[in-house]
Amino acid sequence: MRTQVGIVGAGPAGLLLAHLLHLAGIESVVLESRSRAYVEERVRAGLLEQGTVDVLTETGVGDRLHREGLPHSGIELRFDGQGHRIDLQGLTGRRVTIYGQQEVVKDLIAARLSHGGPLLFEVADTAVHDADTEHPSISFLHDGQARVLRCDVIAGCDGFHGICRDSIPAGVLRAYERVYPFAWLGILAAARPASHELIYARHERGFALATMRSETLARHYLQCRPDEDIAAWSDDRIWAELHARMARRDGVAQVQEGPILQKGITGMRSFVVEPMRHGRLFLAGDAAHIVPPTGAKGMNLAVADIRVLARALEAFCHGRGSALLDAYSTTALARVWKAQRFSWWMTSMLHRFDGDDGFEHRLQLAELDYVCRSPAASLTLAENYVGLPLSLGA
Ligand code: FAD
Ligand code: DHB
Repeated sequence: MRTQVGIVGAGPAGLLLAHLLHLAGIESVVLESRSRAYVEERVRAGLLEQGTVDVLTETGVGDRLHREGLPHSGIELRFDGQGHRIDLQGLTGRRVTIYGQQEVVKDLIAARLSHGGPLLFEVADTAVHDADTEHPSISFLHDGQARVLRCDVIAGCDGFHGICRDSIPAGVLRAYERVYPFAWLGILAAARPASHELIYARHERGFALATMRSETLARHYLQCRPDEDIAAWSDDRIWAELHARMARRDGVAQVQEGPILQKGITGMRSFVVEPMRHGRLFLAGDAAHIVPPTGAKGMNLAVADIRVLARALEAFCHGRGSALLDAYSTTALARVWKAQRFSWWMTSMLHRFDGDDGFEHRLQLAELDYVCRSPAASLTLAENYVGLPLSLGA
């Protein structure tokens, strides 16, 4: 088997890359270890920056997103029993859109299959070979058969737990990491969202986020311990905790209860490897970096990497040289680090830190108050939240 670009992983990064390469007349094969049903049902991120919406729209996979996505022009920061709106659109002229990551994945899979692009699910024993030569390859098992995919270039889009990053010899990459002393418990509930916009709440009991997937499907997150046992969180305990952390003195925009359809716990870390390349193997998305979810940047960063990588591969595969590919890691990392900084800042400002003697708490309240009252500080939050423009070197 031979192709121009071998893509490991059918998450948002791998699928979008295959789509953009197809539009540029470049062949690729996507290899995914899970089943189609699994990747289409996996509930993860849900907030798309304008730039992410734009690329999906411009490349013909935005129809359902425009029908079903919920555009939001602001968010609420809730602390000290009061709500404060950040007017994203008024401050930046840009909006964000709520549309589940698995819906983006479904749309990209449908586009791929509609033109017969190779996309193999349930592959096993994937391994990368000869990445530092001009003839890299990927070996894998599919339908019980051992196969080898020979390629010009390999894209490692296989997420944080994939094999591509680990296939790179020791000493080539440098990793930067922070593991946070808390996690998020996330639920999906058949309930009305707490408000028409997202609410990020800082509370003595811990952080809470009220978001949504539709007018009838609420998604909520609660800060919890990293080693938390999900079995210890009954539905009643989850609702009680959400009510307590989201309480506003004026009683406005309260959490609405409903049947809980799904629960899960996600650890929180910041992680980056540099460079995002080894020879002809290019890492993109969670394979190269993880952000804590407070800034809603994970999937958007994966999309931003792919925009840069697709352009570079287009030039390379069409014989216009390797300058853009050689610049890929540096270009992508400029945005990655700005998103890391923003995600770390939002996380630090909004979460409860165990062992705090009150100092940290006072600083958080002062910072939140400043962010809400100062137009300059509100703009700082807003322009990062909606996605930094390319003119800021990101
Ligand atoms: P992924 O979506 O992880 O895709 C990688 C793909 O590669 C997967 O389909 C995987 O099955 C496949 N794969 C792995 N190993 C192999 C292999 N050896 N061979 C072939 N295929 C392989 N971000 C937010 O902004 N907000 C959130 O609320 C949020 N929640 C999250 C919850 C969880 C549990 C996780 C894991 C992430 C969450 N994120 C969230 C982050 C966001 O979902 C990711 O940043 C995004 O999925 C990155 O896309 P990706 O394509 O790089 O990686
Ligand atoms: C969602 C998740 C986030 O981490 C976030 O900051 C905003 C929204 C969501 O799942 O909708």
